[in-house]
Amino acid sequence: MPVQARIRQQIAELGPWFHNLHLPDGTETSPDHPFGDFPSFKWQHVAAAVPEDLSGWTVLDIGCNAGFYSFELARRGAQVLGVDVEPMYVRQARWAARELGLHDRVDFVEGDVYSLLTARQHYDLVWFTGVFYHLRYPTLALDLVRRVTDRLMAFQSMTMPGEARDIAPPDVQLNRRELLLQEAWPKMAFVEHRVADDQSNWWVPNASCVEALLRSAGFEVVSRPEHEFYICKPVAVPKESGHDLMRVRAVIDSAGVHGAS
Ligand SMILES: C[S@@+](CC[C@H](N)C(=O)[O-])C[C@H]1O[C@@H](n2cnc3c(N)ncnc32)[C@H](O)[C@@H]1O
Repeated sequence: MPVQARIRQQIAELGPWFHNLHLPDGTETSPDHPFGDFPSFKWQHVAAAVPEDLSGWTVLDIGCNAGFYSFELARRGAQVLGVDVEPMYVRQARWAARELGLHDRVDFVEGDVYSLLTARQHYDLVWFTGVFYHLRYPTLALDLVRRVTDRLMAFQSMTMPGEARDIAPPDVQLNRRELLLQEAWPKMAFVEHRVADDQSNWWVPNASCVEALLRSAGFEVVSRPEHEFYICKPVAVPKESGHDLMRVRAVIDSAGVHGAS
């Protein structure tokens, strides 16, 4: 079978694809993607905000899907671990790593962001895009991401319309709760059923909430290279934010659960 026909057949067998990957022979994994050339068109805006030389860096790509970002970061010299809960995406990413000749710099495993609760490994760069709003416990996940981030973290979330931002006042009196209704107040809309026919879309924060949550988890925003996209560096975790995670970890420790990595 000619090479291109073999590749097309394997793409069809491994599908459906969410990432449109460009393979060396010119074939694409999702050329008719409803968003366009996704996520390549996003990366074009984000690329300059990420260090060009990642030699010696370790990267954790959480919710890696078919590995688009893992591959771009590996091309910059990083050693990348991509994890995803969905076995189909892990199969796609492993196959694409071989086709792209990047299999010595990228590893893909089935895994869940919540398993970071017991992780001991840290990473120079944690890529956490397109996952936050799919989680029922998103703030737990963000606190866990902070625990394993040494140098940079890339964050993206679906958000509500509106760009109003404000830093919340240090206190709100009970009889001033109308302040919480201001457009700029950090808010997340809870989705009991579906957004875009997807029942895994649980929460939709506004931009103000994303930034407040990042600060509160111990991240400082370094740049916003693209709509809904944040490059952050880890800073001290505010004391009052760290308590709950410490309590969750104490429960895990007392149950004798230990992670392998
Ligand atoms: C919208 S896609 C985003 C893919 C990619 N990160 C990006 O930015 O293009 C969400 C991905 O997160 C994965 N995912 C959802 N919940 C997860 C979890 N708890 N742990 C790890 N991955 C998860 C999904 O399987 C899916 O591949």
